[in-house]
Amino acid sequence: MEKDVYILAIESSCDETSVAVVKNGREVLSNVVSSQIDIHKLYGGVVPEIASRNHVINIDGVCEEALSRAKVDIEKIDAIAVTYGAGLLGALIVGVNFAKALSYRLKKPLIAVNHIEGHIAANYIAHSDLEPPFACLIVSGGHTALCKMETYTRRVLIGTTVDDAIGEAFDKVARECGLEYPGGPNVDRLTKEGKKCINFVVKPHEKLKDFNFSYSGLKTAVINYLHNKKQRGEEVNIADVCRSFEEEAVDQVVYKSIEACKKFGLKTLVLAGGVSANSFLREGAEREGKKAGVKVLYPEVGLCTDNAAMIGSAAYFCFIEGKNIASNLTLAPKANVDL
Ligand code: KG4
Ligand code: ZN
Repeated sequence: MEKDVYILAIESSCDETSVAVVKNGREVLSNVVSSQIDIHKLYGGVVPEIASRNHVINIDGVCEEALSRAKVDIEKIDAIAVTYGAGLLGALIVGVNFAKALSYRLKKPLIAVNHIEGHIAANYIAHSDLEPPFACLIVSGGHTALCKMETYTRRVLIGTTVDDAIGEAFDKVARECGLEYPGGPNVDRLTKEGKKCINFVVKPHEKLKDFNFSYSGLKTAVINYLHNKKQRGEEVNIADVCRSFEEEAVDQVVYKSIEACKKFGLKTLVLAGGVSANSFLREGAEREGKKAGVKVLYPEVGLCTDNAAMIGSAAYFCFIEGKNIASNLTLAPKANVDL
């Protein structure tokens, strides 16, 4: 029998400080997430400098808690994994330096993980029999992309957003509607009380070229609608605005993803990233997937948003292939990383 692999993973790319211990890429022994949402809520969005400072304050304790919950002695850890990008530079620096120090002191390899690969890998934890190839729709605050996972560590980009990310559109619309940060879950909640009675269609998504996405037109249409109503002193039904926006936003990614599965002969579509927690997206993808004979998978809500367990899973598949091993003296964080 092959030896078990234990990975200690660190995630600090935005406003969650998280450390996890993952066994053999799929078994989460601990996944401690310290969220700063309540702090950033006061400002209506993430303040990068405040995020970095709080990572510094939290990371030691979060790491100790992760090891203690996992009941794994630190000497038993085979490798240290860390998100090196994409993300907020100051926030990434904290996790990367913490990981470099641990790797140096324990004399264990350091694995540099692309945050997006982590979001995809959350599905390996959630679905123990999931194996490539499959199509993956990545929908987060910073990304909207469709790719084909050829192997655990090799993927081909099929489409990406030409302007805003879908999560960014959710958060901006939420803010204009007077909803608290983070906007996505709040829009999603209100949507259930509203009707799709406002037409925000800018360009039918069937007409968008290739498998690329666009969200800035939709976002602007909602903002203009709200401003016009305000100028005229007319009342706005926020639940109807949320419903009309959300259905339009979700239809675009669902339509393109299913079309891509058909074109590339892929029978499984995996959803990844914070917006994959969205109830309409999950329902819509499952409904359209069923019609097209495509199985749709997504992780539980806690694994959709940022967490270190997903980083540990992605790192495991790199580790066993000897990929992405980084220097614990020179690894540098990157604000932008290629998809
Ligand atoms: O993946 P994530 O935690 O961070 C990034 O890597 O960006 O994604 C955060 C994004 C935010 O834009 C948040 O509003 C959105 O995911 N989000 C949602 C939902 N839950 C989180 N958007 C729509 N519906 C949700 N239920
Ligand atoms: Zn993320």
